[in-house]
Amino acid sequence: MLNDKVQDAFNKHLNAELYSAYLYLSMSAYFQSESLAGMANWMRVQAQEEMVHVMKFFDFINERDGRVLLTEIGSPQTTWKSPLQAFEDALAHERTISARINALVDLSLAERDHASNSFLQWFVTEQVEEEATAKAIVDKLKLTGDHPVARYMVDEELGQRTFQPPAPSAT
Ligand SMILES: [Fe+2]
Ligand SMILES: [Fe+2]
Repeated sequence: MLNDKVQDAFNKHLNAELYSAYLYLSMSAYFQSESLAGMANWMRVQAQEEMVHVMKFFDFINERDGRVLLTEIGSPQTTWKSPLQAFEDALAHERTISARINALVDLSLAERDHASNSFLQWFVTEQVEEEATAKAIVDKLKLTGDHPVARYMVDEELGQRTFQPPAPSAT
């Protein structure tokens, strides 16, 4: 069973993952409005992945006989100066999520909650990938600058991303 402290922190984090989905969906809408369909697709898939994270917390809280409590989700930014700025914001956001995950790991250790600690390890690994993926796109956009053909090519590449639904869990 989750203690109140861990349950409260997990519910707050579930909200942060919902906000992540909301932010990336907002970025997707921005890219769509800029006729960058590939980047819009990439952010849409990213938002879908964030919903997978949300549901992992949702299911884990329930499995541990806790209570999921949904709260208000903040309004995300709706426009950016450039694709580079949007992806830089995405990278900065992932870094804050990593810090939040680390804080949850610290809490699970302090509370001697081994099941929560084990659950969180998946997110520790996932955040390494999340940061690396966003950083790679930021680097690419910095290299290509404002060159229209290069931007077109990056957009084409990001248009190839597809959502991979998670395998059904064994539990
Ligand atoms: Fe996430
Ligand atoms: Fe993420």
